[in-house]
Amino acid sequence: MAQGILIKNIKGLVQMRDATPTFLAGVQMQNLPILVNAYLYIKDGLISDFGSMEMLPSLIPDETIDASDRYVFPSFIDSHTHLVFATTREDEFVLKIKGATYAEIAAKGGGILNSARKLQQTSEDELFERALHRVKEVIQTGTGAIEIKSGYGLTTADEMKMLRVARRIGKQTPLTVKTTFLGAHAVPQGMQKKDYVKLITEEMIPAIAQEKLADYIDAFCEQGFFEPDETEEILECGKRFGLRPRLHANQLHRSGGVQVGVKTNAISVDHLENIGQEEIDCLKGKMTMPTALPGAAFFLNLPFPPARKMIDEGLPLAIASDYNPGSAPSGNMPLMISLACIKMKMTPEEAINAATINTAYAIDLLESHGSISIGKTASIFITKPMASVALLPYSFGSNLIDQVMLRGERVRS
Ligand code: NIG
Ligand code: FE
Repeated sequence: MAQGILIKNIKGLVQMRDATPTFLAGVQMQNLPILVNAYLYIKDGLISDFGSMEMLPSLIPDETIDASDRYVFPSFIDSHTHLVFATTREDEFVLKIKGATYAEIAAKGGGILNSARKLQQTSEDELFERALHRVKEVIQTGTGAIEIKSGYGLTTADEMKMLRVARRIGKQTPLTVKTTFLGAHAVPQGMQKKDYVKLITEEMIPAIAQEKLADYIDAFCEQGFFEPDETEEILECGKRFGLRPRLHANQLHRSGGVQVGVKTNAISVDHLENIGQEEIDCLKGKMTMPTALPGAAFFLNLPFPPARKMIDEGLPLAIASDYNPGSAPSGNMPLMISLACIKMKMTPEEAINAATINTAYAIDLLESHGSISIGKTASIFITKPMASVALLPYSFGSNLIDQVMLRGERVRS
């Protein structure tokens, strides 16, 4: 049965576009189209029509929602998460407060290896149940599509277990999911790095590709984790198996990650807390999306990526959450947008573009997500009454999202 939902009297229909760009860069990021006093018509899970209230055609909807004083947004797209994990790591949080660094904790077998030990002891069903709580939480803060990485398994069986859980989230919840194989997240305890790289390239990648468990390949290119040459070998191997690269680059050091990302034609290079002019120049004119993860920079007290400089020099920029138990235990995209505005001097318009159009590009979803455009998936949210869109990042830590609709269906909290 065709299900028609009319949302009328919308104060502002945000990010409505007749045609979607490839992505938004430089000054283009300032332009956030908003149609005032608008309607939106949803049918069969898709955006069927929208326009100004004066032009409202005669429709016979199954349901009508009055959005007076409210804004309607396309769902946020979170292009970088580690949402499947076994347990939180608040013990390490306390160690960090007392002065330990992320790298020191990792060197003592904490950090990623701590999460790996716990994940290895957790069954696939239990992992799914735990992830489901986080899924419900991020849906209510406006996320409609998400990328989920492996990387806490570190054995072939456990990496595959994580990816199966991520795929199951895509099938059994209304969230749209893309998956990434991040075996190269850390070297398992007691193993030589060269042996682990061999395991990744000769066993893990072929097995994961065979079962179609991943869309992308990722690596943590960082001092003490994977060097640029090792990263390149892993990403190139993934490419041969149909996995497009994306990577963790320049989080703790100027490690050469951005250069490897561009060289391997990665779809995105993420983190970028430690970049300079050389990395900015390297990204110019490329199809690789620089992605800031402001929640991780905030939580680890790292410098924030030089977003203002990057955008002013013409680069595109995406914003994602990095939701994970070690460096960013939040998948709250409105909070990420607040941090982008407050700590990276992005305007609300730039930050919203960064979390919709540009993140949709970064996980190959722009054809169906990222904007209010006819024919796209009806994954949207309706805000509480708001005077302007700037209230969203301004009200950091508050939830101004009132109703969520994914694939044309209401998702109740
Ligand atoms: O993106 N930097 C590497 N990976 C994650 C953190 C993983 C963890 O500490 O569990 C990140 O920040
Ligand atoms: Fe990450």
